[in-house]
Amino acid sequence: MHLYLHIPFCESKCHYCAFTSLRLKDEKAYMDALLKDLISKKSLFEKEKITTLFIGGGTPSCVKARHFERIFDFLQPFLASKCELTSEANPSSASFNWLKKMKELGLNRLSFGAQSFNEKKLHFLGRIHSSKQIFKAFENALKAGFKNLNIDLIYDTKLDDKKMLEFELKELSKLDFLTHVSAYSLSIEKNTAFAKRPKFKKNAPLLASFFIKELEKLGFKQYEISNFCKKGFKCKHNLAYWQGKNYLACGLSGVSFYENARFYTRPNLKAYIKEPLFRSKELLSKQDLNLEHLFLGLRSCVGIKKARLDESTLQRANLLLEEKKLEFKRGSFFNKNFLLADELVLFLQS
Ligand SMILES: C[S@@+](CC[C@H](N)C(=O)[O-])C[C@H]1O[C@@H](n2cnc3c(N)ncnc32)[C@H](O)[C@@H]1O
Ligand code: SF4
Repeated sequence: MHLYLHIPFCESKCHYCAFTSLRLKDEKAYMDALLKDLISKKSLFEKEKITTLFIGGGTPSCVKARHFERIFDFLQPFLASKCELTSEANPSSASFNWLKKMKELGLNRLSFGAQSFNEKKLHFLGRIHSSKQIFKAFENALKAGFKNLNIDLIYDTKLDDKKMLEFELKELSKLDFLTHVSAYSLSIEKNTAFAKRPKFKKNAPLLASFFIKELEKLGFKQYEISNFCKKGFKCKHNLAYWQGKNYLACGLSGVSFYENARFYTRPNLKAYIKEPLFRSKELLSKQDLNLEHLFLGLRSCVGIKKARLDESTLQRANLLLEEKKLEFKRGSFFNKNFLLADELVLFLQS
């Protein structure tokens, strides 16, 4: 079983971000509701142990570590022995004490949202921390005992050019203990400060290829369009998403995927706190599921299963195989260049 918990609070709103993130309020009431939500899933956890837990946001490090205590106490009996337990955190709010307490509660993987090491780019993105705070946050995480550490970066903004990316890579290389890098190409999302500023995205595919190659030279192998890791450190939780496995999500805006359906919570904080167990259900058709399998599989090392392709899609996949755009191994087709994933899916579906 894979479990996601959403913490919908942030200290401030970044200009690019469309995730559910609110100013911190009703923290205790929210965490109480989250626990109720989790308890209601007890019979599912009894059937199948939790192999990955991901606490995401928003910013989990906005919430006091003591509020996570009851959550971990409840989950403890249902965690598989080598469970991957990740939390996101921000350099501005994750204090040494927060990190230490979360480590004591059982967290064994940490993902810091840094986005950039350049002060001007941090300001442009609406981040409220400095580059120095990023280094301090990692130092504290190491001191607290974390060994499996990810950093989130954003590139392809209008401020990015080869020089900027070389700077990002130079700073990144100082964090030689990192096991994982998530490097996201900026996307301009609806209802964000950047929404009316499409030119804030650079759209430079050659720069993206350059960044990816250089990340690989630092020892981070790309295994999904935005994800890179040292050997043996793929994020098992994200892999489960891309493999189309069932996962449960608790917390405001947490979307579960279970037995070919998606489940949505009440849409705002007040309503979620009042009715944390409520879910609306969206049943996915075979066509929806197959399309998702194509997108997720070709953007990642997961690949697409031959057995799931209809006759015409299979014919086109074989054409891509002849053109050496795809590889075929163990009953699945694999993409050799994740940056081309969307175009390949369009071709397969045409
Ligand atoms: C759910 S956010 C939470 C991370 C954490 N709150 C933080 O910002 O430090 C996860 C990551 O998604 C990425 N992200 C969010 N919005 C994005 C966008 N519009 N374009 C590219 N990456 C984005 C950022 O790298 C961010 O760190
Ligand atoms: S990027 Fe992170 S800190 Fe910024 S608004 Fe989104 S969730 Fe909050």
